[in-house]
Formats: sequence, structure tokens, C-alpha cells
Amino acid sequence: MSAAFRPAPNPAIAEAQAARDPGRGHVLVIGNEKGGSGKSTTALHIAVALMADGARVATLDLDARQGTLGRYLENRLAYAARKSVALAMPIHVAVPLSSMSDRGAAQADERARLETALQQVVGVVDFVVIDTPGSDTWLSRLAHSWADTLLTPLNDSFIDLDLLARIDPDTLRVVRPSVYAEAVWQQRQLRAAQGGRPVDWVVMRNRLSSIAARNKRDMGDVLQALAKRIGFRIAQGLSERVIYKELFLSGLTLLDLARGGGGPALTLSHVAARQEVRDLVAALNLPAPRVSPAPSAAPATASAMPSPPAAG
Ligand SMILES: Nc1ncnc2c1ncn2[C@@H]1O[C@H](COP(=O)(O)OP(=O)(O)O)[C@@H](O)[C@H]1O
Ligand SMILES: [Mg+2]
Repeated sequence: MSAAFRPAPNPAIAEAQAARDPGRGHVLVIGNEKGGSGKSTTALHIAVALMADGARVATLDLDARQGTLGRYLENRLAYAARKSVALAMPIHVAVPLSSMSDRGAAQADERARLETALQQVVGVVDFVVIDTPGSDTWLSRLAHSWADTLLTPLNDSFIDLDLLARIDPDTLRVVRPSVYAEAVWQQRQLRAAQGGRPVDWVVMRNRLSSIAARNKRDMGDVLQALAKRIGFRIAQGLSERVIYKELFLSGLTLLDLARGGGGPALTLSHVAARQEVRDLVAALNLPAPRVSPAPSAAPATASAMPSPPAAG
């Protein structure tokens, strides 16, 4: 492993710098300590969207106990076999928590598990999409410190926003950042101390309702203020649509429906939803896939693996 931590160039900070760190995949962490915010759903949709653009993608499931992403992919594989359709599949690795009882040993074990998983894939794919649990685990924090881009799906609710900031109920002003924002900030400090480029943090609103106009507007105003205060970008995100729930059993995404992968018929609402997913991926401003994909997966080289920052 190289001595210095060298994250991939940050596309938000260097807009023109579309180049990626040669020979290494861009790490996109999907994180929010709140469960049920749409992390796993978003992770698979983004992974499939990137593959549809010709990128090679690996997915890491750090919420291996629930294993939603792994189950989603199992369903996808089964669907492809059942219907004899070709569906792009990422290289998927589950990274379970350590079962060791000693805390220090468990952390060392988890660090080794995450690094092994990254090492397997980071040199052979364009993007590593890491799905994290809806709780504050040491392993999840460690993964956050690897993020080139951090994407936080947020339900359009003040209950969910509470993990990012305390809000004054009368004025809707941001009183102070709260637990998750502080955890992200700590991981950012760690990276900065190690000379790493800043993480591009993007917060996306999820399950946006077409009604509830007042809540939607208030959330929007508060998020704008918060973005400046704690340093993230806002992506419009995804609307509340039943199709996101329905697709799980077939392992399909909206992007597969578009390409005749079978499954539910494509309605106007699905077309709009598919556009939302594409807009979200565009808003992430990720580096372009490498030009000449290797025909076969070569093992990750030592130089492709950045040295890990410490977890907070
Ligand atoms: N945009 C959406 N519209 C409707 N349901 C959604 C949407 N995004 C997620 N869901 C549903 O919300 C629940 C939680 O989503 P999930 O991706 O498992 O979240 P997390 O991984 O953060 O726990 C699931 O039932 C999922 O189907
Ligand atoms: Mg999940």
C-alpha cells in the first residue's frame, strides 16, 4: 500500500477536473445513521445507472445483517435466470461486523474485512458503491473516511433531519449540527489531517411527496441554510413512488424497465421516476468511467489501494 492517502479528485471542488485517480475506482458511500431513508434503494439504482453508462461497478454491503442490498441483487440474479434476460450485475461483497468480543480486536478485524473487500475491487472497477447501516457503527464510520463522494438520502421529514441538525421550532433556524453531521465532520477532519482532498458531500431528499407542500417547502428552506453551515450540496432526489417498493422482489430498477428488462409495464410515472434517477446521478458529478475497460478482471494492484485513514 502507498504511504499517502490519495482520494480521487473531488469533482465538485474541481469542476473541470473530470479525471479520476488513475487505476482506482471512485468510492461513493451512501450514508445516513437513520434507517429507512432509502440508502439501499438508492445504492442499487445508482449502481445500475452507472453500469448502464458503461461503468464497471462494485457494491459493498456494510449492513450485512439486514443484507438488503445483497438480497436485492439475489432477486435480480434470480429474475434474470427466470426470465432469461441479461441484467448487468455489480461485483458484490458483503462486509459483516466482527463477532469478536474484545473491542480493539473487533475493530482491527473489521478494518481488515473492509480493506480486503476494497482491495478486491478498487483496482478493477470505476466505482465502488458502499451501502451502510442505519446506525452509528465503527465499521460504518471507517467506510465514511474512505468516501470520495458521500451521498446522504434524507426522508423529507423533520424527524429525519434531526440527525443532521437541531432546528428551532419557532424560527426554523439551525441551532446546531447534530450527531450524523458531527460524525461526517470528524471523518472529514481526519482526511484533511492526512492530506486527503475534501469529501464531496451530497444530501438528497428522498420520498418527496407531491402534496404536503408546506412541509416540503420548510424542509427545503432549512436544508439550504444547513448546507451552507455544515458544507454539503443538495440534490433534488427521488419522489415517493410505490414502484421503488415493488421493484425489490424482482431485483429490477427503473433503468432496467426502460431497456425492456420485463417486469412492470413502463408508465408515464415510471418515465418521470427514471429521469429522477438519472438527474440524481448527474448531480453527483462523478468522474467519467475509464476509457478502455479491461476485458477480464485483473487483481487489484497494491498501488491502486490508498492507505486507509483512521476511523474516528
Ligand atoms: N423514493 C421512494 N418512494 C417510495 N418508497 C421508497 C423510496 N425510497 C425508499 N423507499 C422505501 O423505503 C423503505 C426503506 O428503504 P431502504 O432503501 O431499505 O432504506 P435504508 O437502506 O436507508 O434503510 C423501503 O420500504 C423502500 O422500499
Ligand atoms: Mg439499507
